[in-house]
Amino acid sequence: MPYELKPLACDPGAIAGMSEKIIVSHYENNYGGAVKRLNAIEAQLAALDWPAAPVFAINGLKREQMVAMNSMLLHEVFFDSLGASQASGALAARFDTDFGGVDKWAAQFAAMGKALGGGSGWVLLAWSPRDGRLINTWAADHTGNLAGATPLLALDMYEHSYHMDFGAKAGAYVDAFMNNANLAAASRKFAALAGA
Ligand SMILES: [Fe+2]
Repeated sequence: MPYELKPLACDPGAIAGMSEKIIVSHYENNYGGAVKRLNAIEAQLAALDWPAAPVFAINGLKREQMVAMNSMLLHEVFFDSLGASQASGALAARFDTDFGGVDKWAAQFAAMGKALGGGSGWVLLAWSPRDGRLINTWAADHTGNLAGATPLLALDMYEHSYHMDFGAKAGAYVDAFMNNANLAAASRKFAALAGA
């Protein structure tokens, strides 16, 4: 069953400081590209001569599957992360417990994004059930999500996310993202986690 694109979760014309053009391009080309690539990889995996296939073919395809699948999943969280709104309920309480308030959380999250400026990767707000806490994590190559953790908010720091609007000013893009952070959506995701 091929993977399909989820509808664009945000209103691309209503994100202050970010153009509709870059959001739609990001959705169609980068997110869409990941889904298309994942389907091609899945087809090759299905056709592989298991277990006789060469180890380099197995390793290569499984690595690329991981990259494409996580790119798809994290982009879905990213587009759902755009739409300025406040945290509420259990998430708002956890911001206080785990970061000393939403402002301190936001300062740390934004600093992590700016630290990646000129590089690439993701900054994620994730819930770690192992320790029962929120944590801001870094994820490279669309992989490296904290094991067992659920991303609630995702900041894409790959250049395709901002270059069209901001050039090399990655920090201005991070500021725009933070102004548009959809903390209501993150609150809903958090509320839906069992035991959170
Ligand atoms: Fe992206």
